[in-house]
This record gives sequence, C-alpha cells and structure tokens, in this order.
Amino acid sequence: MENTLFGKDIIGADSISKEEVKIIFDTTREMGKIVKSKGGDDRLKGKVMAALFFEPSTRTFSSFITAMQRLGGGIIPLNGMQNTSIAKGESFEHTIKVFSRYADCIVIRHNSAGKPQTAADCADIPVINAGDGGNEHPTQGLFDSYTILDHFGSLDGLIVSLVGDLTYGRTVHSLSQILAKIDSGIRFNFVSPPQLKMPDMIKSKLKNAGVKIMETERLAEVINVSDVIYMTRVQKERFTDVSEYEKLKSFYELDRNSLMHAKRDMIVMHPLPIAAGEINKDLDADKRAVYLNTELTNGLHLRMALLDLILRKIHE
Ligand code: NCD
Repeated sequence: MENTLFGKDIIGADSISKEEVKIIFDTTREMGKIVKSKGGDDRLKGKVMAALFFEPSTRTFSSFITAMQRLGGGIIPLNGMQNTSIAKGESFEHTIKVFSRYADCIVIRHNSAGKPQTAADCADIPVINAGDGGNEHPTQGLFDSYTILDHFGSLDGLIVSLVGDLTYGRTVHSLSQILAKIDSGIRFNFVSPPQLKMPDMIKSKLKNAGVKIMETERLAEVINVSDVIYMTRVQKERFTDVSEYEKLKSFYELDRNSLMHAKRDMIVMHPLPIAAGEINKDLDADKRAVYLNTELTNGLHLRMALLDLILRKIHE
C-alpha cells in the first residue's frame, strides 16, 4: 500500500485523513511492541530531525528526541532558540531554510499561531507542528485519540468531556477534531468558564461532521456520565491581563472525591503540565488517571510511528 504520509507536513488536524489516522495508530501499536521487546531499532539510521522549540517544553521535546533516537536517527535538539542566531536578529524564514539543509524533517513549536505553516512554506523537508500558540497541537491530539480508542475499543457513543481553557488550549482543538474524524458518533461536553469557551470555528466544524456537543460551566454536571474527563491548564502565557488569568486559573479542581460517582471504567487525561491544581495530586495514583502513565507512553510510541511514516517511503 502507498504510504501517503511520506514527506508530509503535519500542521493541524486537517493535515491527516481518517485513513492516515488508522495507519498511524497501527504503526503506533507496532512501535509499542518494538520498544517493549528490544527498545527500538535502526530503521531511521541516516535520517536527522531538527527540533526547533521557540517555546518551553518538557514532554513534547523529549519524546520527539527519544522517538528519533529509539529508531536510530540523529537529532538537532534546540529546546529554546535563545542561543541561536535568532538572538542576533536572523529571520524566521532564514532559520528554517538553514535547518532544512541539515535535517530531513523539522519539528517546530512556536508561540505564534500559523508559524509551522510558514515554516512548511519555506522548507523543502516535512514540518511537524509541535504546538503553535493557541491554535493546534496535532501530535498530542493524535496520541490522546489513540489513548482513548485503545482504552475503549470504539468511540461510538463515547462521552468525552473537555474541561478548562478551551479557548487557548491547543491540545483540545486538535483532539476534538481528530476524534470527530475517526468517529462522528462521539459526544462532547465542553466544560469551561464563559471567558474560555471552545472557539465557534471548531464547534461549527464538529457540528458539520455530525458530532453532538453540549456546553456547560459546571464540571459536576458531567462527571457521572463521562467516559473521558480531559482536564487542561489555563494557558497563562496567552493572557494579556494577569488578573484575568488569576481569576480563572483554578476555576476547576478535580480530585478523588469528585470522582466518587464517576463511571468505573472512565479515564482522566491531561496533556500536562498541571500548573494550578486543576487535578489534585491525590488522583495521581488512581487507576483511572492515565496522564502520568499510558498517555505519556503512547505519546512516545505515536511520535516514533509518525517519524517513521514521514521519513520512510516504503512500509510493508
Ligand atoms: C501542552 C501544550 O504545550 O500545549 N503541553 C504538552 O505539549 N503536553 C499543554 C499545556 O502546556 O498546557
């Protein structure tokens, strides 16, 4: 079968077709087995990934680096661009053109929405968006979707509650669209303060796809019916008014007690970091909490799969 992901830019949920999501998930499963049995292999030997992170990152950066290394590839790891010629005033475009001469793909995180697309327009190698401002974070959306599908086996009729900063939270923008692409039988509860609602543009895309959406401010209203509760951090760095952030940062606090009447097989997710107590640490050890275990492991395996599919044409 032709590998349509070979050489492809991954800019947002729209970059990937439903068929490609399936191929990525199948390869992710394979990667999980490879890591478990032998740690990795050498299939990306001779390939190099440049990781250009203009914004702070713990997991996305490290898991992309690890993913490449576990497949035998090389890395240009720049976690922060302050020690590059960007500090001397070199343009974004020139910076991208330079790295596209050294590497075989670019993974980029930027505080400004749309920059990964700008990078893709001036690079002649594939570009993967690792988060652009308050816009999208497609690889996080992919492995969060994988985590949900892998746990429940099917998305049809599943109730997924996305909670917190739905305006600036880029992970929920990608996640909701990818889940809807996989199965329009999924149902969403969008739980946020009125100031941080899911953007209309995304809501209308989801509705056009036939997905059912319910919006509320009250987390308590959805806990008992949810199969997935996906908490998010209020995105401090996107606020111009600090007092507004302070007012909203702890709008929701999920703890063991609040899950008393939750479904037994439900899961609690969070892209991390937890920054203002939106999940109490008493949930960390709860078997329903997957944010410190499966969600992370799946992130590594999915990024291995994606790099493999983008960088190697032939896939049996
Ligand atoms: C998220 C991000 O950067 O958008 N983090 C991540 O990549 N896991 C979520 C966040 O920072 O709140």
